[in-house]
Amino acid sequence: MDSSEFLGFLSHRSSVREYEETLLADEEIGYILSCASTAPSAGNLEAWDVVVVTDEDTRLALADASFGQQHVGEAPALFVVCANYVRSMSQYGERGILYAVQDATIACTYMMLAAHARGLHSCWTGAFDEDEVRGVLGLPPHIRPLAILATGHGHPPVRLAERMDIGDHIHRDE
Ligand SMILES: Cc1cc2nc3c(=O)[nH]c(=O)nc-3n(C[C@H](O)[C@H](O)[C@H](O)COP(=O)(O)O)c2cc1C
Repeated sequence: MDSSEFLGFLSHRSSVREYEETLLADEEIGYILSCASTAPSAGNLEAWDVVVVTDEDTRLALADASFGQQHVGEAPALFVVCANYVRSMSQYGERGILYAVQDATIACTYMMLAAHARGLHSCWTGAFDEDEVRGVLGLPPHIRPLAILATGHGHPPVRLAERMDIGDHIHRDE
């Protein structure tokens, strides 16, 4: 893939919130997780964990915890990406909290793009009640759920989401 193909690859991803019932193959799930493990992390500590959820009752409970977002219940696979504070704080103290959040979000980004590379569709879902998600998955206190990546074979929207002008993001030298 050359650099313009890479930009095209990124530009053609969109969040998808409607999925077919087709399950993800174990190999597809494995591919997504393998891509996540290539992500950079602070001190190479990989301060993230992921709970892969395919059980229907658990998916529906997570949809409830996500303020009823339907796509969370309908996606055949959910990757609940979590910061692992202990892994990072053991080396970096308080700063490790920030590093764990960054490690986990980079890993989630890699997973989202891995799904896209496989022709799958996903929706990064950040709106949920953390305590409810903790309860559903039995997460210990040092594990913070950051994102639910709903993933499946889906129906992309006809139009891609618009972006701000790139110039509005950029500041030079100050
Ligand atoms: C941190 C974060 C949280 C998000 N939370 C939600 C969410 O709770 N529900 C949802 O439907 N989409 C959610 N999204 C998806 C965004 O709405 C979407 O990425 C944005 O509108 C741009 O559209 P695109 O992904 O199709 O380019 C979230 C995305 C990010 C990065």
